[in-house]
Amino acid sequence: MTASHANFVVKPGGRVAGEVRVPGDKSISHRAAMLGAIAKGLTEVRGFLEGEDCHATLAALESMGVRIERPAPGELCIFGAGPRGLEAPAKALDLGNSGTSMRLLAGLLVGQAFDSILVGDASLMQRPMERVAAPLRRMGAEVRTNDGKPPLTIAGRRSLNGCEHRLEIASAQVKSALLLAGLAAQGRTSVIEPAISRDHTERMLEAFGVRVTRAGSAVAVVGPATLVATRIDVPGDFSSAAFFIVAGLIAGSGPLVIRNVGVNPTRTALIDVLRLMGADIRVQPLPANDSEPRADIEVRPSALHGVAVPASLMPVAMDELPALFAAAAVATGETVVTGAAELRVKESDRLAAMAEGLAAVGVATEQLSDGLRVRGGDVSGGSIDSRGDHRIAMAFAVLGARAQSPIAIRDVQNVATSFPGFAETARAAGLDITESG
Ligand code: S3P
Repeated sequence: MTASHANFVVKPGGRVAGEVRVPGDKSISHRAAMLGAIAKGLTEVRGFLEGEDCHATLAALESMGVRIERPAPGELCIFGAGPRGLEAPAKALDLGNSGTSMRLLAGLLVGQAFDSILVGDASLMQRPMERVAAPLRRMGAEVRTNDGKPPLTIAGRRSLNGCEHRLEIASAQVKSALLLAGLAAQGRTSVIEPAISRDHTERMLEAFGVRVTRAGSAVAVVGPATLVATRIDVPGDFSSAAFFIVAGLIAGSGPLVIRNVGVNPTRTALIDVLRLMGADIRVQPLPANDSEPRADIEVRPSALHGVAVPASLMPVAMDELPALFAAAAVATGETVVTGAAELRVKESDRLAAMAEGLAAVGVATEQLSDGLRVRGGDVSGGSIDSRGDHRIAMAFAVLGARAQSPIAIRDVQNVATSFPGFAETARAAGLDITESG
């Protein structure tokens, strides 16, 4: 693995074409590690994301006594500890930048026989946690937050009862935490969301032999439940592929193929939005070998035009919006995104970070309370602060290919949370990107 660098400089005129692969899916990797840890038997994982966020999950599980062997990069053998088999960690679990680790582990830990404390880096310590703590309390869990934020302090040895949760905000992290708690609870735990969110937990629970009832945006499990170890083959991360989809469209010199990408329909709304903008994107399905669909995605250079993005496509496009805003910056006309208030509580306030960064390279934007208006056109060069947010850094790296002079991006270390080796992959795709610092 490469060392993290502090800065990227992207020069204009990259010629993107050929083929690339992106690292394993972050959401699926977290879930494979956690479900493998509480299953009975040996879970073998391939394609695991060797990024910092997923390493934080592995380190937490190992500190609770789970044996995990790593025969090769991306391969894990997880010796499942069983439903109540985790051991008390010696100290607080540090989950770094990873909101998924913190929220999902909260659901897993409320059913264990020991107390635990969950902390993270400066960004994670500012993120909202009552959304997961409050519904867990309704099940009988004892979870404290610090004025709604981490640390999360969890008291174990509580008996949990299944209940029906109606979420105000669609969130796969909250849904997943409640389903994980539901596995250890007595009776039925159901989660009803205002809109569908990514369904990797549901699919993977079924692969581990758990009966999951689903109808629209409602899902339920009955506890107590035992998971049976299985094999998980993690596809490439669509959210990482998103940057190359946009690069191929706006800076392409020929077709670009991104191989073996997860195309679960709860993740791929970006393709629909980009097609509305005039994008030429072809999805070639690959033979299914487990519960997650995968495909090769081919993009060709396309003249894009702005659109009003249907709010119904949020929240299943939320993580891809920084990439979409980069596309919007070079599209003709205006692109308007609404219904995306959740972007303000991600690894950074992504609406503010994108608006500020786009302004710094001469693109006119207007922040809305729940979205952004981007007036596409010429992109000058400039200097961007990524605010330590991996997806902001990668969005501007892609945009740099279409700028009139170089774009320098500061504070890019956290790209390694989701996309180790991003700069090498970007160079292989044809971007002129260097790392420094
Ligand atoms: C994730 C869910 C999404 C997403 C995050 C990963 C997951 O967050 O933004 O990057 O793996 O469950 P929400 O749960 O807030 O929608």
